[in-house]
Amino acid sequence: MANQELTASPTDSETPTLQQLNILTLFPEAVQAYFNIGVTGRAVERSVIDIHCVNFRDYAQGNYKAVDDLPFGGGAGMVIQAEPVAKAIDDLPLSGRQRGTVVLLAPTGKVFTQRDAERLSQSEAITFVCGRYEGIDARLNIEYVNEVFSIGDYILSGGELAAMVIIDAIARLKPGVLNNSESATHESHSLGGDQLLEHPHYTRPATWRGHEVPPVLLSGHHKRIQTWRREESIKATARVRPELLENIDLSPAERSLIERLRRGE
Ligand code: ADE
Repeated sequence: MANQELTASPTDSETPTLQQLNILTLFPEAVQAYFNIGVTGRAVERSVIDIHCVNFRDYAQGNYKAVDDLPFGGGAGMVIQAEPVAKAIDDLPLSGRQRGTVVLLAPTGKVFTQRDAERLSQSEAITFVCGRYEGIDARLNIEYVNEVFSIGDYILSGGELAAMVIIDAIARLKPGVLNNSESATHESHSLGGDQLLEHPHYTRPATWRGHEVPPVLLSGHHKRIQTWRREESIKATARVRPELLENIDLSPAERSLIERLRRGE
């Protein structure tokens, strides 16, 4: 394998407790598939998280098992009824699952951040409720929902992708999930890192289609490489997400670098 060198990542000898993650959805098979692969699959395999997908249509009444109905007050679309979702939540202990924090995924929620991932990764259990159509009857929130999260300012067809995004972000923070080479501490937005966007990365070959790797990275000069990476992080953040720089401790030299960037120098 190329470039084993680079920075050592911390090894974590703690044995994590199993985190119960329930996902209430109309598409359990599609959601489940994501937990058979990659880092999330590894988290399941290593008994770091237990994924329990429930189709809340199973809790609907009538021959057609309808879970939606017309909105009171009129308007377009259908609304998911509170009762089938509530029953699915109430039933979790019967299948030996803890309910924990109930998280609703909706575009009306607070935008999910790495800070939320860090906080939720400490919970014993979380139940994710995935809406579809125009959403879920708002009275479910009063009775059951502890937090509402959006994954960004755009409208998805349902909460499933958002639940998968959030679980992925949580699972990779848990001890024993990432291998040493995949350390989560120096990534963009990481609290353990510097909350800047990450500097660019390069691997072999040193020249690719005429583009050279920045020479400092080939210098073997650790301190200079660190300085270069920090400056590149600051530049990337200033260019793409300038608002992030407001909450970061910067040295006077770094502040003047940002000033120069702002002046277009
Ligand atoms: N459901 C539909 N759009 C969503 C979004 N942006 N985030 C979370 N859940 C959603």
